[in-house]
Amino acid sequence: MLKKKSENRVLPVHIAVIMDGNGRWAKKRGLPRSAGHSVGARAFKNIARYCNKIGIKYLTAYAFSTENWKRPPEEISAIMNILRDYLKDAKNFKADNIQVKFLGDRARLPEDIRILMKEAEEGSADATGLKLSIAVNYGGRGELVAAAKILAKKAKDGVIDPENIDEAALGGQLYTAGQPDPDILIRPGGEKRVSNFLTWQTAYSELIFFDVLWPDFAPKHIEQAIGLYNERERRYGAIV
Ligand code: IPE
Ligand code: IPE
Ligand code: MG
Repeated sequence: MLKKKSENRVLPVHIAVIMDGNGRWAKKRGLPRSAGHSVGARAFKNIARYCNKIGIKYLTAYAFSTENWKRPPEEISAIMNILRDYLKDAKNFKADNIQVKFLGDRARLPEDIRILMKEAEEGSADATGLKLSIAVNYGGRGELVAAAKILAKKAKDGVIDPENIDEAALGGQLYTAGQPDPDILIRPGGEKRVSNFLTWQTAYSELIFFDVLWPDFAPKHIEQAIGLYNERERRYGAIV
């Protein structure tokens, strides 16, 4: 397929990104892993602002997975502290007209973080720019199990007929309800896997991998990803 000229390029509506490689970035520099997470948080703010600036409608970023609790307590608390600082600063997103939302099971998160998340969501609810979703204590399989439980309970209570459960009904119980599926899933850091991110939603996403580590991820990589996306032919199982 011919490469489209940049002026004719199609912007993905929804970009998902797995922010990976912070630890290796720090290790390469002889720094503690937490330093990688701090610089990674800066890269994240920069990328969110850039996506907003160029007119991307949805950005969904994986910040902490349900599996990341397996890490040492010091690293987890460093990540939670970075998240706290970020949330305290979240009014800046309102100023940028970015709407923030969190995906994941909040029950396991510290209470002050849960309150800050709610405040950030409420404070930016009427922003009309980028819809930024940040996945914290998120796991794609857990999300599907939770959705199945809700539907099973509704069926048991006679609220829904199991025969009527369709993709829209299941999708409507996910954290991402109401959002379009990601057009592209970007993973920097060199690993070529999805690590339990957006299991349902990425069924037809274009996968784009970068070797660059997340703290070095820059707007030029978003541009490269958009360029690669424009070279892909999406068929959804059909013949074109
Ligand atoms: C991603 O970077 C951030 C989180 C998972 C919280 P990593 O911490 O996984 O960095 P690497 O993959 O070990 O380099
Ligand atoms: C995925 O990265 C999770 C986040 C970036 C939040 P991991 O570093 O946890 O993934 P694996 O362990 O390499 O699959
Ligand atoms: Mg990693």
